[in-house]
Amino acid sequence: MANHHQFRKKHKNMNESSRLFFLFLLLLLQLSNVSSQSWDGVVITQADFQGLQAFKQGLVDPFNYLQSWNGTGLDACSGAWTGIKCVLGEVIAIQLPWKGLGGHITEKVGQLTALRKLSLHDNSIGGQIPQSLGFLRDLRGINLFNNRFSGSIPASIGNCVLLQTLDLSNNLLTGSIPSFSNNTKLYRINLSYNNLSGEIPVGLTSLPPLTFLFLNNNNLSGSIPDSWGEANKSYHLNTLYLDHNSLSGSVPASISNLHSLEQLSLNNNGLNGTIPMEVGNLSKLQTLDLSKNFITGDIPATIGNISSLFQLDLSGNNLTGEIPLSFDNLANLTSLNVSYNNLSGPVSPLLSRKFNSSSFAGNIQLCGYSASAPCPLAPSPSVIPSPSTPSEPATRKLNTKELILTIVGISLLFLLLLFCALISFSFKRKSSSDKKGTDSVKKSTAVAGTTAKGGKAGSTTGSDVTSSGDTGGKLVHFDGQLAFTADDLLCATAEIMGKSTYGTVYKATLEDGSQVAVKRLREKITKSQKEFETEVNALGKIRHPNLLALRAYYVGPKGEKLLVFDYLPKGSLAAFLHARAPDTPVDWPTRMKIAIGVARGLLHLHSQASMVHGNLTSANILLDDKSTIKISDYGLSRLMSAAANSNMIATAGALGYRAPELSKLKKANPKTDVYSLGVVILELLTGKSPSDTTNGLDLPQWVASVVEEEWTNEVFDLELMKDAAAGSATGDELVNALKLALHCVDPSPAARPDMQQILKQLEEIKPEVVESSEGPSSTGEPGDADDAGGGE
Ligand SMILES: *[C@@H]1O[C@H](CO)[C@@H](O)[C@H](O)[C@H]1NC(C)=O
Ligand SMILES: *[C@@H]1O[C@H](CO)[C@@H](O)[C@H](O)[C@H]1NC(C)=O
Ligand SMILES: *[C@@H]1O[C@H](CO)[C@@H](O)[C@H](O)[C@H]1NC(C)=O
Ligand SMILES: *[C@@H]1O[C@H](CO)[C@@H](O)[C@H](O)[C@H]1NC(C)=O
Ligand SMILES: *[C@@H]1O[C@H](CO)[C@@H](O)[C@H](O)[C@H]1NC(C)=O
Ligand SMILES: *[C@@H]1O[C@H](CO)[C@@H](O)[C@H](O)[C@H]1NC(C)=O
Ligand SMILES: *[C@@H]1O[C@H](CO)[C@@H](O)[C@H](O)[C@H]1NC(C)=O
Ligand SMILES: *[C@@H]1O[C@H](CO)[C@@H](O)[C@H](O)[C@H]1NC(C)=O
Ligand SMILES: *[C@@H]1O[C@H](CO)[C@@H](O)[C@H](O)[C@H]1NC(C)=O
Ligand SMILES: *[C@@H]1O[C@H](CO)[C@@H](O)[C@H](O)[C@H]1NC(C)=O
Ligand SMILES: *[C@@H]1O[C@H](CO)[C@@H](O)[C@H](O)[C@H]1NC(C)=O
Ligand SMILES: *[C@@H]1O[C@H](CO)[C@@H](O)[C@H](O)[C@H]1NC(C)=O
Repeated sequence: MANHHQFRKKHKNMNESSRLFFLFLLLLLQLSNVSSQSWDGVVITQADFQGLQAFKQGLVDPFNYLQSWNGTGLDACSGAWTGIKCVLGEVIAIQLPWKGLGGHITEKVGQLTALRKLSLHDNSIGGQIPQSLGFLRDLRGINLFNNRFSGSIPASIGNCVLLQTLDLSNNLLTGSIPSFSNNTKLYRINLSYNNLSGEIPVGLTSLPPLTFLFLNNNNLSGSIPDSWGEANKSYHLNTLYLDHNSLSGSVPASISNLHSLEQLSLNNNGLNGTIPMEVGNLSKLQTLDLSKNFITGDIPATIGNISSLFQLDLSGNNLTGEIPLSFDNLANLTSLNVSYNNLSGPVSPLLSRKFNSSSFAGNIQLCGYSASAPCPLAPSPSVIPSPSTPSEPATRKLNTKELILTIVGISLLFLLLLFCALISFSFKRKSSSDKKGTDSVKKSTAVAGTTAKGGKAGSTTGSDVTSSGDTGGKLVHFDGQLAFTADDLLCATAEIMGKSTYGTVYKATLEDGSQVAVKRLREKITKSQKEFETEVNALGKIRHPNLLALRAYYVGPKGEKLLVFDYLPKGSLAAFLHARAPDTPVDWPTRMKIAIGVARGLLHLHSQASMVHGNLTSANILLDDKSTIKISDYGLSRLMSAAANSNMIATAGALGYRAPELSKLKKANPKTDVYSLGVVILELLTGKSPSDTTNGLDLPQWVASVVEEEWTNEVFDLELMKDAAAGSATGDELVNALKLALHCVDPSPAARPDMQQILKQLEEIKPEVVESSEGPSSTGEPGDADDAGGGE
């Protein structure tokens, strides 16, 4: 904190202190040449004497500071004349700041041919700046700031090739800035606070010693030259202020050649175009102010490389996209403003903690930075696991961070709904005329069913594309049945249900109270948009009572991808089996029904859709109200990049469902699905979770070892043994199911049965469950089943 404080203080005083520093420097220079105390005794030359007299005549001196400039002038160089310094009878400096002088500067000042410094700042001198300054080849400093000079800056100053400081700021100068390309010693130029117009001379962009350039608060127009620095010259520009002008065009990429730049202000202009990503090369930059322009495009992530950045203002532009995650790296950033743009997405928790909401306000689609702008379906990026972290099954407990996010989300539900109502009002109104009849369908689309089918004649085939004007994204409905818009979806309150390698799953409650499961895919690991759409359209066509239907997908303007599925309130088989209350047994018929349902779903995938699941686990086998199962997550690997899929396979390995050959093959096939199904059946039979190993043996190995020892009954779940005792299960049924499961998990893929055979055998084991598992899917209202027991 102390450091920051110092920094801020230093920054604030920079202008003042640098100016004082230069005055001091010039003073030292002169003192080393001549001391006013020890006059060199040479009487002033005639030309200089006349020059000074004319100079005095031009001025108005209400406080008589120039009273000492009297008499014959024999003492003009003696130190007796206020503000005059000479060397060998020639005037080298006129320094009369803060003297209340008016009038003007005579052209005769050009007679003072040895003049090195002209310092008349902070007076009220007006008129034109004399052309004749151009004759003064020794001139090093011109400080005329804070006066009333008008007219234009004489181009003749270009002749003063030794000039180091030119400060004409805060006058009434008009016209254009002359070329200073011959003034190769210029160190500081301050022309700010005038009324200069025209373009910025290209010559100013390539003066190697130039360290401070202030052209701010003028009326400069045209574009900023794109010729800053030169590759082979060391370039010292430290501060570049071009703000408050009428500059247009884009921020030139060549600015990144200015390796010493610490302050860059281009705010309050008419700049358009995008921010060049090369600004990230300005490794010493402390202040970057691009506010109040018309800059478009994304904020380059490279800005996050500028570790010295202290103040960043991008407010009041037309920037789009998300705030780059790399901004989290800006440890020294103490002032950030991205307000009033068209930014979207979540603000990182770090930034929203560090800066208050006025840094982010005025970006309708930006969220997460304040209580009044919660993120609907966009988790804060830190919640998404990085590709290297193994995913957890969907049943795992929410961690504290998520819990807080969820609580915040819930507590703001009311506000959010209000906001969404406002957003979607106009959209709804517009589309209500051509969407007549969807209301009657709406209710039944809510959760589990395929019941929506037939709700609207003739619309069950094909997909329905809506794109939202507000979000710019693309929402594609399959079946054409779910009556929500992209805005509805994005505004829905969402609760995290689980996470996997591919993304995060939310339970989203739409405006009308209906619930859907939304999977937000991790953007970086999905296929390109075109491939993605081809694959997702194929997935959206798959319909089977035992396969969770993909109802819609959404691709956002920044490539974010959401998949919308039916929401099943009962959760997953994993939770159903392993996370239930002690007195809620799952009976044998229910377990068989589940096994048969999984086999049916997989058979449809393999034979009708020519697709493999690739990642079957009990966590993605979902239950609806009647314990009918629906398999989720099938075919998702087709949407993801190859790297993501091998990562997923590795994760599946850890969970215990992965066929052994997959660690080498890297690509799932029907036989690897059979293996996973075998593990699921073993899970149903034993009641054990495959991720728990026993004495280093995975579930199939453990079952095989027990069976070999002929203690077969030991493998079965105690509840099933009770069922057997009560007569609802027979020993044969259990043993045959166990044999089938062990057949499925045979280490040799060729030895495993195919899905058709498995289904046939399961149906033979328990014929009486066949009918009921095929029955029509539930039409239950959302949320009416909240106990995890079931099965009775
Ligand atoms: C430039 O001029 C402005 C206006 O006079 C002043 O505020 C600023 O401090 C000056 N900067 C430098 C470095 O001299
Ligand atoms: C010139 O100015 C000095 C200092 O103000 C004063 O002492 C002196 O009398 C003046 N001489 C004339 C001739 O006005
Ligand atoms: C710079 O100097 C060269 C050679 O002395 C001269 O020809 C040219 O006109 C000068 N340019 C300016 C802008 O003064
Ligand atoms: C600035 O200069 C322009 C002419 O170039 C003039 O029209 C305008 O009134 C001036 N503005 C101010 C504030 O002096
Ligand atoms: C800027 O310059 C234009 C002409 O080039 C003039 O019309 C306008 O008044 C000037 N703006 C200001 C603020 O002086
Ligand atoms: C800059 O240096 C490179 C080699 O480092 C050379 O090829 C090039 O010609 C130089 N450019 C100029 C303008 O001197
Ligand atoms: C930026 O502004 C200039 C002039 O005002 C215009 O010619 C150009 O087309 C604009 N560029 C963009 C990308 O809007
Ligand atoms: C400047 O930045 C660009 C893009 O960020 C990069 O490709 C380039 O290598 C950088 N140049 C230098 C000289 O650092
Ligand atoms: C700068 O940032 C970009 C994107 O954030 C990154 O890819 C690049 O490696 C960084 N460059 C340096 C030199 O740090
Ligand atoms: C961050 O600020 C501190 C204190 O002002 C400074 O010492 C440090 O060098 C800065 N870090 C960078 C990378 O500029
Ligand atoms: C910038 O955004 C504003 C408001 O969003 C819009 O009116 C304007 O047309 C946009 N300008 C450009 C150049 O995109
Ligand atoms: C950000 O900029 C806006 C508009 O320029 C301003 O109203 C707000 O106060 C600024 N916030 C901060 C933290 O600087």
